[in-house]
Amino acid sequence: MRYGYGLVRDAADKIDHDAPPSPSHQAGISLRHGAYVANACIGCHGAQLSGGKIASGAPDWPPAANLTPGEGSVMARYPTAAAFRDMLRTGLRPDGSRVSPAMPFASLREMNDVDIEALYAYLKTLKPRAAGGH
Ligand code: HEC
Repeated sequence: MRYGYGLVRDAADKIDHDAPPSPSHQAGISLRHGAYVANACIGCHGAQLSGGKIASGAPDWPPAANLTPGEGSVMARYPTAAAFRDMLRTGLRPDGSRVSPAMPFASLREMNDVDIEALYAYLKTLKPRAAGGH
């Protein structure tokens, strides 16, 4: 669990930093920036972002959701970047139900619109994988 939160804190630090972007990484709505932001998700959603059991999670955590466009993907619920952003900011699905607090909303909420739009665009380009699939 410490590992999971550690990763998140790391990634949030990177996303939120005030330092000027390095020449090799300019924040913007680009797939490259989206892939960078997605580093904050792989600790739980897996290297392929297809979700599944979170090895470092507490026993009562639900499996992480499949963020690829494959079978069992949750992304069908988020037809627009705005819908996706609202969930990340509020912790609520479009139908009003609450996503498990295992999702670190306290830090995810800090992502700006550019981060979220780039991330959303990047997730759309992922190879479709079944939930938990590699
Ligand atoms: C600390 C672990 C953790 C991290 C880090 C994390 N997630 Fe999750 N996420 C989860 C878990 C667990 C679920 C399943 C929640 C549930 O079933 O209620 C989930 C569910 C989701 C869902 C599905 C919401 C729904 O409609 O049910 C989306 C989308 C999502 N995460 C996106 C992300 C993105 C994007 C990132 C990175 C910016 C991220 N998550 C980082 C643990 C995490």
